[in-house]
Amino acid sequence: MKNILITGGAGYIGSHTAVQLIEAGFNPIIIDDLSNSEEKVLDRLEEITGRKLTFYKGDCIDRALLDKISSEHQLAGVIHFAAFKAVGESTLQPLKYYQNNLGSLLTILDFMKEKEIKDLVFSSSCTVYGQPDILPVTEATPRQDAESPYGNTKKICEDILVDLVKSQAGIRVISLRYFNPVGAHPSGKIGELPIGTPANLVPFVTQTAAGIREKLTVFGDDYDTIDGSCVRDFIHVMDLADAHVKALAYLGEQQDDFYDVFNVGTGNGNTVLEVITTFEKVNEVKVNYVIGARRAGDIVKIWADTAKINSVLNWYPSYSLEDSLRDSWNWQKTL
Ligand code: UD1
Repeated sequence: MKNILITGGAGYIGSHTAVQLIEAGFNPIIIDDLSNSEEKVLDRLEEITGRKLTFYKGDCIDRALLDKISSEHQLAGVIHFAAFKAVGESTLQPLKYYQNNLGSLLTILDFMKEKEIKDLVFSSSCTVYGQPDILPVTEATPRQDAESPYGNTKKICEDILVDLVKSQAGIRVISLRYFNPVGAHPSGKIGELPIGTPANLVPFVTQTAAGIREKLTVFGDDYDTIDGSCVRDFIHVMDLADAHVKALAYLGEQQDDFYDVFNVGTGNGNTVLEVITTFEKVNEVKVNYVIGARRAGDIVKIWADTAKINSVLNWYPSYSLEDSLRDSWNWQKTL
């Protein structure tokens, strides 16, 4: 069984990917400093999978810890989720973001090179497209200047990976450009655990429906979209997790010095107001919301062209928006 190191494996996307990896016959080894996740996630993973998981508590920028892990386990690949991801915070503390998000990738790449670990799946984001002129976006859509230091770290990390592969370092890399991850494991045992006030839409919706937040503010209803609110491509976290498994399997078939990038979205755009009304309908619950001002820096509309990931990785989403919002609510109700 191939050992795959998952940095940030106790986090939202990492934990769901650990489940899917086990189902696909890989052995995930989790490293997480628990700075934005909780240790109980590990217990939940064991409940879901019926397996004991290998977990190291620590920072993946800690080279000595990575060396210790590789001395204890022969690693076949790495999925690098661990990163800071709060857009607003990144504008206030850019160095924190550059140091952590670039530093951890550089440390991991150096480690992989030295230990001759070939395969890496990297968490990128549709943020690299900015506000595209033509929709949907394909992987060939030009990237734009980042709106935030967070977005810039994703762009720079992609560039670092391209340069390293060009240098014939003997590695094989896929960057996955995530659209908007939502939903939770259908068991309700794992899901997103935002710390403090959620910045993202769906956790704010679920917390408002649960009465934790008094009201949700829809950031603008005067955009050029069908109902005036912004459009996003909401992808179920289980489908997103599955894309990592498919990416790893595909990397295993490639020659050395391979790099590619894939959009991971559903291919459908939904507005913020559609998300709220769909959530209310599938869960038979009211969401108290008001229309507010536009949020600075928001992209008006973006959704993915998924033809490449469909045909090359044979990956297709299997959950609908309704499924995602039902699973998000089921998860919220357990908290
Ligand atoms: C944001 C980042 C993206 C990052 C992602 C990480 C920007 C421009 N983009 O995506 O780079 O990868 O977070 O999770 O910051 N909304 C409301 N009310 C709320 C919260 C959100 O109306 O209380 C709206 C937003 O205005 C937006 C949509 O919901 O139109 C989605 O927002 P969000 O969940 O924050 O994700 P993104 O902005 O798409």
